[in-house]
Amino acid sequence: MAYRVPFVDPRAHYRRYQREIDAAISECLRSGDLVQRDQLRRFEENLAAFVGVRYAVGVKSGYHALHFALLGAEVGAGDEVITVAHTFVATISAIVHCGATPVLVDVGSDHNMDPALLERAITPRTRAIVCVHLNGRMCAMDRIMAIAERHHLTLIEDAAQALGASYDGRRAGTFGLAGCFSFYPFKILGGFGDGGALTTNDETVERTARLLRYNGEDRQTGEYHYHGYTALLDNVQAAVLDRKLPHLPAWIEHRRRVAERYRRGLAGIAGLTLPHYDESRQRDVFQNYVIRTPERDDLREHLERSGVETLVHWPKPVWEHAALGLKDPALAETVRMCREVLSLPMSAETTDDHVDMTVQTIRKFFA
Ligand SMILES: Cc1ncc(COP(=O)(O)O)c(C=O)c1O
Repeated sequence: MAYRVPFVDPRAHYRRYQREIDAAISECLRSGDLVQRDQLRRFEENLAAFVGVRYAVGVKSGYHALHFALLGAEVGAGDEVITVAHTFVATISAIVHCGATPVLVDVGSDHNMDPALLERAITPRTRAIVCVHLNGRMCAMDRIMAIAERHHLTLIEDAAQALGASYDGRRAGTFGLAGCFSFYPFKILGGFGDGGALTTNDETVERTARLLRYNGEDRQTGEYHYHGYTALLDNVQAAVLDRKLPHLPAWIEHRRRVAERYRRGLAGIAGLTLPHYDESRQRDVFQNYVIRTPERDDLREHLERSGVETLVHWPKPVWEHAALGLKDPALAETVRMCREVLSLPMSAETTDDHVDMTVQTIRKFFA
């Protein structure tokens, strides 16, 4: 179905940057630069500089960045890792695939980990914390860092939705032992398929990730140091991402303007909660613009009928997916979020007209 207001518009995005994207791809193809070449190295350097760390390692996906970060922290069988249930399932699967047990805690009204609940969940088996900067807003890093230090726990940041977001002027991906990013096509910096990166200041974590992504092989010596994975960020993908990276600050500004237009347009509707929180320390990049209402399903249907595409992240608590074998952690706010959240159209191609049509449609529903 063609929407009047698409959630994102990959075709419009391509048309806008076609010359740069085509040039990046054809340069790789013409020169045969397909695997671990200069384009990947340049992107890693530029990404590390943008985030503000010493190293970035390009991998197959955000999932792989999380998995390798945990393996780099030597998380394994017998360990507990505390994270949130209100996240994409990959955060939790990465913990499970290390042989560790995920311990799921609730989120606060800003959709991010509640630090008080984090501290209460710590046991003698806790090894690490994976905090998730959801929707482009960073967690309360001062409190989470203090808890991690007090209890000698490793902190890993799931920053898949937060490239460019900051806390006290410091960017996501610079606080923990490692930061994990996703370049899934509809992320704030999106490729044309799966992609991800791990950022770190730690030489050992960097080396471990580089080995793990290439089946454990040290390319200099040919020695295999691990049973690893086939999980490189493709060179062509890196070349495209590197061309796009300089545009990211402008795209973030655009998203913030879109969010502000939504805020002004939707202000004052009883029963509707908007995603605007204290920005004295956080600077949001609005990967997603997530509103809340107990009438979510009816509102979504109304928007759909009016040609406005929306998404729900996520409609069912992760522990209710029986095959995942997760214990019900009884998280009241997470359950409410699943019932109430609705993500509105938001991308670098979202126009004022898109926002205004969405706002009018929502106002009509509540009228
Ligand atoms: C919060 C969060 N964590 C992890 C991931 C996993 O990233 P990927 O899809 O690149 O594996 C995503 C991406 O959807 C995400 O949104």
